[in-house]
Amino acid sequence: MNFEETLRRYVEFTEKELKKFNNYSHENRPQVKLIDAMNYSLRAGGKRLRPALVYAFCEALGGTMETASAPACAIEMVHTFSLIHDDLPAMDNDDFRRGKPSCHKAFGEAMAILAGDALAVLPFEIIADTPELTPEQKVLIISVFANSVGRDGMIGGQVIDMENEKAECVDEENLRNLYRCKTGQLIAVSCVMGAICADADNETIRIAAEYGLRLGFAFQVIDDILDVTGTTEELGKPAGSDENSNKNTFVSLFGIEKAREAAEKATSEALEWIDAIPNNEFLVQLTEKLLKRKY
Ligand code: IPE
Ligand code: IPE
Ligand code: MG
Ligand code: MG
Ligand code: MG
Repeated sequence: MNFEETLRRYVEFTEKELKKFNNYSHENRPQVKLIDAMNYSLRAGGKRLRPALVYAFCEALGGTMETASAPACAIEMVHTFSLIHDDLPAMDNDDFRRGKPSCHKAFGEAMAILAGDALAVLPFEIIADTPELTPEQKVLIISVFANSVGRDGMIGGQVIDMENEKAECVDEENLRNLYRCKTGQLIAVSCVMGAICADADNETIRIAAEYGLRLGFAFQVIDDILDVTGTTEELGKPAGSDENSNKNTFVSLFGIEKAREAAEKATSEALEWIDAIPNNEFLVQLTEKLLKRKY
């Protein structure tokens, strides 16, 4: 199977499994609007990069997609929660996401906050309930996953990102730490969870994390570049959002060229880390292609 076919297989499986895990019925339930808002953002698509990483690591290390399905859908739900809240007027104030009006535009702010909240906790329920993983695997996954989302992870990173809007001077160390938290941690934990699903040893799990952090850094820098060079149509979200929100990014600090060099360097380092992973052809190609992505 070539790269495109494998990616399609991962994305299609993600869509199918997301429907299975989020098939909460409207029937006899008063919170219809919440269910609609969750489905609206979750089914709007997106690249499904994080589930693809969970599956790719699990399969490269000898596991199956079925084993990894709960963590793969769980990470996409948390990621979608992060996007719904990221777009709120109190945060980046963006009205367009994944080619559609943002959740708060379609359902109102209160419902967007609550849909995000619900998509932050459902993932832990589906991991705890899956029959595909052992209790030991579940506890480890829940521990690393929760850590990547919270204070020291995505949420902590979003705080630094917002505080930086008002800061006089932001240096490279601050930005690298911010990117590691807000983007790197969720991407790294995707790789780590895939490895845990395949019962990988501790050293392999560490390699998955180191790779994911570097890929995540490159991914965020490219996102910053696309915010300046891409169009709203291509991106499915408002171009120029960072400047409008007075964000400090690698692009605003160092310019597009230096930012691209930093993304290239992190990509090379990521590739070095996965040298040690067997059957890594898909991962190598994915890493390279993400550097050249247009959305
Ligand atoms: C957007 O993530 C937020 C960042 C961390 C840069 P993606 O670019 O993966 O968004 P989707 O899932 O494809 O919509
Ligand atoms: C967001 O970074 C990272 C998240 C935790 C959602 P951005 O604010 O740059 O993401 P986009 O560009 O809105 O997708
Ligand atoms: Mg943001
Ligand atoms: Mg944003
Ligand atoms: Mg952005």
